[in-house]
Amino acid sequence: MSENPKIYRNPKSGSMRFTGTADFVDQDGNLIETKTDFKLCGCGRSKEKPFCDGSHKELIAETPQD
Ligand code: FES
Repeated sequence: MSENPKIYRNPKSGSMRFTGTADFVDQDGNLIETKTDFKLCGCGRSKEKPFCDGSHKELIAETPQD
């Protein structure tokens, strides 16, 4: 079984669920923090960017469905 981190993109919300551990670094490569199993915002509405805070649910509710 692979131990590579996995990224799943939700096509409705745009959120990206990351399973595994990742280092967040600044532009010079200095470690900011290390996180495990988190979601990144892809809709632009999160107040906790770059992480998803669930605000995409409002966007889905406002979007007409087929
Ligand atoms: S994708 Fe969840 S708040 Fe943006």
